[in-house]
Amino acid sequence: MFQLWNNMYRKFPLINKEATNYLLSNETYLDKKEITMKLLAFAASNSRQSINKQLVTHAADVLRSLSPDIQVEVIDLNDYEAPLFSIDRETELGIPAVAQAFYDKITGADALLISFAEHNGSFTAAYKNAFDWASRIEQKVYQGKPAVYLATSPGPGGAGSVLNAAVGSAPYFAADVKASLSVPSFFDNFDGDSQRLTHEGLAKDLKAAVSALL
Ligand SMILES: Cc1cc2nc3c(=O)[nH]c(=O)nc-3n(C[C@H](O)[C@H](O)[C@H](O)COP(=O)(O)O)c2cc1C
Repeated sequence: MFQLWNNMYRKFPLINKEATNYLLSNETYLDKKEITMKLLAFAASNSRQSINKQLVTHAADVLRSLSPDIQVEVIDLNDYEAPLFSIDRETELGIPAVAQAFYDKITGADALLISFAEHNGSFTAAYKNAFDWASRIEQKVYQGKPAVYLATSPGPGGAGSVLNAAVGSAPYFAADVKASLSVPSFFDNFDGDSQRLTHEGLAKDLKAAVSALL
């Protein structure tokens, strides 16, 4: 099988990256590539064009460039959209399958990378809803996992308020926050074409922040 794979790669080198990821994600036997960490990354936003999703995806890439044996999964909160939480709905419906799936993703991860969008100084409704449902499974939603928290916004505040709220409340929800970083003025500091931070100082800060997971 391994020989077959090597031959395939020689014939079709362009598919190598994707197919290697496939093999890694299924924990098969690429003996030189042992997964050292399963990283779950997401933006606390349901915007299809989310700048926080762009940032968190880039941050995951930076981490993988430092340690290529990390398996990264970037999820989208839109795939975990549950009805608006209420005690009555919980009594009526129980825990929605999508909420359980969100919680299970966290369970399956070794480390977390989350980038928080800020709406009116606080969490987005989409994140708060997913989080509230997950907290009904277990209040310690983040299950003691090491985490790096990021936040960005188009303005100079860089979603600092929501980041402070997230970091400050992390111990209640068993997130072991190793580092946090707010990226201000996203569109001045992040290049949409190359999907990377262009501001040298912020790029250095991001590298230092994600390194805290290693
Ligand atoms: C309802 C609403 C409230 C917002 N409130 C804030 C805010 O308090 N602070 C801030 O920096 N940006 C605020 N913004 C701008 C967001 O930072 C911006 O929409 C950003 O793109 C959100 O991140 P996302 O693209 O990852 O969803 C707000 C945007 C909306 C739609």
